[in-house]
Amino acid sequence: MRSADALLEVRGLTRRFGGLLAVADLDFTVRPGEILGLIGPNGAGKSTTFNLIAGALRPDAGEIRAGGEPVAGLPPHEIARRGILRTFQHNRVFAGMSVVENVMVGAHTRFRAGLWSIVGARAGARAEEAAVRARAEELIGFVGLAEWREADVTTLSFGQGRLLEIARAMAGDPRLILLDEPAAGLAPAELDRLAALLRGIAARGIAVLLIEHDMRFLLPLAGRVVVLNFGVKIAEGSADEIRHHPAVIDAYLGDPAALVDAARAGESTHAAA
Ligand SMILES: Nc1ncnc2c1ncn2[C@@H]1O[C@H](COP(=O)(O)OP(=O)(O)OP(=O)(O)O)[C@@H](O)[C@H]1O
Ligand SMILES: [Mg+2]
Repeated sequence: MRSADALLEVRGLTRRFGGLLAVADLDFTVRPGEILGLIGPNGAGKSTTFNLIAGALRPDAGEIRAGGEPVAGLPPHEIARRGILRTFQHNRVFAGMSVVENVMVGAHTRFRAGLWSIVGARAGARAEEAAVRARAEELIGFVGLAEWREADVTTLSFGQGRLLEIARAMAGDPRLILLDEPAAGLAPAELDRLAALLRGIAARGIAVLLIEHDMRFLLPLAGRVVVLNFGVKIAEGSADEIRHHPAVIDAYLGDPAALVDAARAGESTHAAA
């Protein structure tokens, strides 16, 4: 794929923390509308990779291109303006605001003015605010929180908070959404809802780059998977290729539960096929 066609292209991406090489010479590409899994043991460099792409960290070396345009080192709101939105490994809500207001904030993360343009909306901005609110309400319905749209955000359950985070990222009108362990801590029924939601996002033509430890959740969902270990890409391929890849099995040897998860994910994929 030529770089101009790739939604996101990462080449030679490298980041150190003191003497620790957290991300080492990493290459990968995200294509429009795909769900790409990013996996690896604890400390493999997954969240650091997200922080580099989203502009929260500056790379020590390497290129990041969005739609062919270099974006490495740009601040987060400039990355967001180019259609790359993210959620965090831990939910971040704006307490004291309703669910719909929390999603409206997401529409403003693309602009430097951010939150304050909602709080202090002037008369001239009212029409725009109405459009932003309508869009936020549509997204709240899309993630399944319609009943709670006027609720104070602190009354949501943990799983509902996850859905809110995704709605907020969607409000920034992404071409690519970065999700850091969205399935962590969710109950089985919530996992099913989240999987359906991620498929729905991809079906809207929005690419999803998904960090996930739960292989049973990830492998049936991801069209392709990139595997990191100690900052280095050790494998890339389809879910089936990854499941049977010797280097991936080696990397997870210290974590037998993850291997069992991967095997079960294989069973459930075959059962579904
Ligand atoms: N701000 C930081 N300062 C120093 N070291 C850091 C920092 N952020 C991450 N690291 C280190 O970089 C390495 C990669 O961390 P990262 O959070 O990217 O891993 P991860 O793959 O997301 O792990 P997990 O699955 O546990 O979330 C780890 O050794 C971590 O301790
Ligand atoms: Mg992480």
